[in-house]
Amino acid sequence: MRPLRLALTKGRLEQNTLRLLENAGFDCTALREKGRRLVLPVGDTLEVVLTKAADAVTYVEHGVCDLGVVGKDTILESDGHFYEILDLGFGRCRFALAVPNGADFFSGYAEKTVATKYPNVTRRYFDGKGMDVRIVKIEGSVELAPLLGLSDGIVDLVETGETLRENGLCPIEDVAEISARLIVNTASLKLRKKEIEAFAKRLEEAGKIQEGKK
Ligand code: PRP
Repeated sequence: MRPLRLALTKGRLEQNTLRLLENAGFDCTALREKGRRLVLPVGDTLEVVLTKAADAVTYVEHGVCDLGVVGKDTILESDGHFYEILDLGFGRCRFALAVPNGADFFSGYAEKTVATKYPNVTRRYFDGKGMDVRIVKIEGSVELAPLLGLSDGIVDLVETGETLRENGLCPIEDVAEISARLIVNTASLKLRKKEIEAFAKRLEEAGKIQEGKK
């Protein structure tokens, strides 16, 4: 049988996932020495594909990858035709609504404008409050939008809060807690249930060991 294929989000989650796989006993030599290769064998039973976060979800949804490691932020923004089976515990941060220091976002009757990389998350959040806002999608540093006068606030990821502080913004409400999750293609989970459950268990156990070491 072909190896299980795992879509791994490049960047922030990559190193933690690699460490977790190694703690779970997988040989990650090819991943550590990847050069510019995008499909990498990890032992005989696993193959890792390095992708952007949103693409990891796409590959898992379409079944060309059985599994994916993605942030809950990406999951919340997607339509979610896959299973989320494990919280990996790293990549912890939160979605927050942030505004310029001292601004009273919720006062007045004029419609507010919110900039974000996550329009679906933002739409749902304000719908939940029964509040109409105009949402502007930004691709890069969202913090710029209120600084330039384009928006009244932002919904974005906050980890240390440093980016907000250095740009005169402050978080006023938490929107959602975020961490890395293991996702699975719906058909793969049926067809290769035992292997996938064993893989998830291995990662879960290794995660506990990692935590214990701290
Ligand atoms: C994220 C987020 C904030 C920053 C928050 O961006 O969009 O800008 O991190 O981190 P902090 O609270 O520790 O300052 P990221 O660095 O992932 O880059 P991106 O803009 O490419 O998403």
